[in-house]
Amino acid sequence: MANKETVTKTLLVTITLSLVCSILVSGAAVALKSRQTENQALDVQQNILAISGLVADPKTLTRQEIQEAFQKITPKLVDLETGKFNTILNVDTFNQQAASKDAATSTVLSADQDKALIKRLEHTAKVYVIEREGQLETLILPVRGYGLWSTLYGFLALENDLKTVAGFGFYQHAETPGLGGEVDNPSWKAVWTGKKIFNTKGDIDIAVIKGSVDPTAHNAKHKIDGLSGATLTSRGVNNLVNFWLGNNGFGPFLNNLKKGEA
Ligand SMILES: Cc1cc2nc3c(=O)[nH]c(=O)nc-3n(C[C@H](O)[C@H](O)[C@H](O)COP(=O)(O)O)c2cc1C
Repeated sequence: MANKETVTKTLLVTITLSLVCSILVSGAAVALKSRQTENQALDVQQNILAISGLVADPKTLTRQEIQEAFQKITPKLVDLETGKFNTILNVDTFNQQAASKDAATSTVLSADQDKALIKRLEHTAKVYVIEREGQLETLILPVRGYGLWSTLYGFLALENDLKTVAGFGFYQHAETPGLGGEVDNPSWKAVWTGKKIFNTKGDIDIAVIKGSVDPTAHNAKHKIDGLSGATLTSRGVNNLVNFWLGNNGFGPFLNNLKKGEA
């Protein structure tokens, strides 16, 4: 039997197959892009709901139930430098992560300022507000900072006194499961609830310590147990909380809100 295989035919089959596959893969990526974006937004909403305390376990909710529950939460933009609400930019289309990477909408932090190791700070942040009868009930602040292996992205919720933690958690990070990944452990996250941020002088006193907090210590209400075997992630979490509550983060905004001047 004559050999029908030639180099040209082999190449033709390979090229055709590669072309078909790449069209299929890029077609699928394009077709699924909007679905992916929608799922990411839903995941963030689910996390905000969990931290807000509005819903006991948002993981059990359907897509529609999440969207319904989220109606009680109002996103607002804050100018970090002035600490005032920004009502000029469109809150629905504003993307804080994108703003943090754009030189026009963010500023490089000096080593001294950059406690959270985020390199650039966006000018505007998206916060989430829960109100009851026109009064602030819970304020949810986006926070992020470097742990050991990754930037951790999460939310810190404050009670209406703006001094007490109402909830805390991360929705994205790449710390090691079982070590730094224990930031997701529900019992560790629960330790944050009720902790007091400021000491009597008004300075930030909330801190993740190495080891366990002695509940009888005079400052126990400000301190959080470190994660065992994950001192570096714990330090990162401590630094990022300090950064975002401080003068370069939401400090000016919190001060304005307390005075009713945001
Ligand atoms: C494979 C591997 C993964 C690790 N992942 C983490 C981590 O995610 N977070 C962390 O703080 N430490 C992690 N560590 C441990 C750190 O290198 C360091 O030993 C630890 O933070 C010290 O914590 P300790 O003082 O509580 O023991 C990891 C170590 C190894 C070998």
